[in-house]
Amino acid sequence: MSADYQVIDDVAVITLNNPPVNGLGLATRTAAVDGLRRAAADPAVKAIVITGAGKAFSGGADIREFNSPRALTEPTLHTLIRTVEDSVKPTVAAIHTVCMGGGLELALGANYRVALPGAQIALPEVKLGLLPGAGGTQRLPRVLGLETALNMIVTGTPVASEKLAGTLLFDELLPAGSDLVAGAVAFARRVADVRPLPKVRERQVEHPDAAAFLAAARARVKIEAGPFPAPVECVETVAASVEMPFEDGLKFERERFIRLTQTTESKALRHAFFAERAAGKVPDVPPDTPVREIRSAAVVGAGTMGGGIAMNFANAGIPVTILETRQEALDKGLATIRKNYENTVRKGKLAPEKAAQRVGLIRGTLDHADIAQADIVIEAVFEDMGVKETVFRQLDAVMKPGAILASNTSTLDLNRIASFTARPQDVIGLHFFSPANVMKLLEIVRGAATGKDVLATALALSKKIRKTGVVSGVCDGFIGNRMVEQYIRQAGFLLDEGALPQQVDAAVEKFGFAMGPFRMGDLAGNDIGWYIRKRRAVEMPDVKYSQTADLLCEQGRFGQKTGAGWYDYQPGDRTPQPSKWVDDMIVKHSQALGVARRAISDEEIVGRLVYALVNEGAKILEEGIALRASDIDMVYLSGYGFPLFRGGPMFYADTVGLPAVLAAVENYARGYHGEAWTPAPLLVRLAREGKTFNG
Ligand code: NAI
Repeated sequence: MSADYQVIDDVAVITLNNPPVNGLGLATRTAAVDGLRRAAADPAVKAIVITGAGKAFSGGADIREFNSPRALTEPTLHTLIRTVEDSVKPTVAAIHTVCMGGGLELALGANYRVALPGAQIALPEVKLGLLPGAGGTQRLPRVLGLETALNMIVTGTPVASEKLAGTLLFDELLPAGSDLVAGAVAFARRVADVRPLPKVRERQVEHPDAAAFLAAARARVKIEAGPFPAPVECVETVAASVEMPFEDGLKFERERFIRLTQTTESKALRHAFFAERAAGKVPDVPPDTPVREIRSAAVVGAGTMGGGIAMNFANAGIPVTILETRQEALDKGLATIRKNYENTVRKGKLAPEKAAQRVGLIRGTLDHADIAQADIVIEAVFEDMGVKETVFRQLDAVMKPGAILASNTSTLDLNRIASFTARPQDVIGLHFFSPANVMKLLEIVRGAATGKDVLATALALSKKIRKTGVVSGVCDGFIGNRMVEQYIRQAGFLLDEGALPQQVDAAVEKFGFAMGPFRMGDLAGNDIGWYIRKRRAVEMPDVKYSQTADLLCEQGRFGQKTGAGWYDYQPGDRTPQPSKWVDDMIVKHSQALGVARRAISDEEIVGRLVYALVNEGAKILEEGIALRASDIDMVYLSGYGFPLFRGGPMFYADTVGLPAVLAAVENYARGYHGEAWTPAPLLVRLAREGKTFNG
């Protein structure tokens, strides 16, 4: 059963029962409609209460039915709502905890609504690039008024039920802690004989000057929505609740809903939604894999990354000790942490007591003995194998048995790092992104010997510290940095051939990236890449780069931190100003190479950079470094500022069509430094077979 039926006194109670949040899947809809028919046919029943079991009234559509024909199989959500609304016996929705999306649309079909305080009320469809498609845009304004309903539908933000007290949405708000079903049954008995039955659809939308309000909302939302069509369509459908009769409004809503389901932007948002959920799943590590408890943590190194990593633990209420080699470095690191918290408090985003509590959870030490009992230790020292070796040998010697030994390395071989210890099963990579207390992405690097329980613990930990954990195998740069390397190489080659940094950045930013590659380099520090290129020059002498980045670094132009990089910076101002010195250096370098500079289109810039990501992503997928294409998309959406409305590089390639992507790659392979463009065998195969990365 996915809805239960019982009769209390002379009231039928239909309880939606489809854990975890009573999603309105086919079985639940069928059982609910059956319950309504049974109640209609039973002369002993005078009224009907609809409620939800467990932790929700209803969270809305069943996401397991998304994109499946079951969503359109009768009884559809529309049919269910119609059956509730057309019931000849009064219907009462008894709302608690979660009432969202289709769940709220169902409640709006009832004659009455009774709720407990603290219930989350929302129509969040816009967050998936859609609009409420089961009457929500037409009924919500009729009970909340135009303004409140429009804001809720355009933003998708939940509102607590008590904040909506006094509106026509609720006929009764019960006291906190009271028995909802008993209260709803009592209410139903009071109204059992009232006729005619009140219906939301028969009400008028209230607003003193709807036309003016809608004109302003249309103008505002068009700007705020950026590349996303859904918020604009939400305004249009809500406007229909005022501008059209109810039935026409419903039809209009349906039409716009279907249109939105077919947009790339909505497909991208839904892809990202499912990608995030899929990322936590590893086929050979089932959900019942035992996890180790993490009650305390340690971080080695109080530099840029170590401090931010420590803050994650403190924010999650886990005490954390930071180990340094020098008091000065420790003091500096701890001072930076305090400053970060002070800034958050100043911006009003954190209460001062909470900040103090978190700072209180972070301790510094120079003594290994103080970290030995931690359940997990994360190493964030210099990116140098020799230094990592010393640190891991020490950790192996001092850490208690069963402690997880993690490295934040961004490029080094985790298997070698594990081999410095006598417990490689306890070693894992936890690759945070800078700033580590802000960025959502956490690459979880699984070494050859990493224990399944250690991996399961890392996945659970990533949720606890509110990161998007994505599992990667071991390779140079893991998923994200290995791909970005090819992207940055192409950006460099474009400079040799005729582009300037500002043109490349502008083209990519127009495509939707948060930041182009040269602005990104200036922010992260160009010296990091310089250091890596020097290492690669020894390890992989055949891999070629544009020399422009080295010429830049030889002048000490490391980026914002030195006041100059690919751009010039005024003191205290992070705005990049195009640099005459850099432009001249690039032009002279082309001359020295004997390359005749040419005009390069924005389209070519975007193609070269984005397909460099895609081609390398395909190799990563085929090698099994990433478990699925959507994991690669998640890495790029949550860690590299890839535009969300394009769904990540692999999804984007799917929408372009893999044959077209392959043709472009083959074309670039005939151009400047074409050796960088060996098409990934997986790309070739999928393109030939007419398939996609995300299947
Ligand atoms: P950093 O240079 O800012 O900090 C390193 C800190 O480690 C310094 O404070 C140093 O005193 C300390 N340290 C060195 N040896 C130590 C030892 N034996 N015991 C205790 N402390 C020691 O470096 P950053 O940028 O924080 O990088 C650390 C690690 O994080 C590297 O592996 C790097 O590749 C990785 N990483 C860096 C990112 C970034 O954007 N900076 C992003 C992601 C990973």
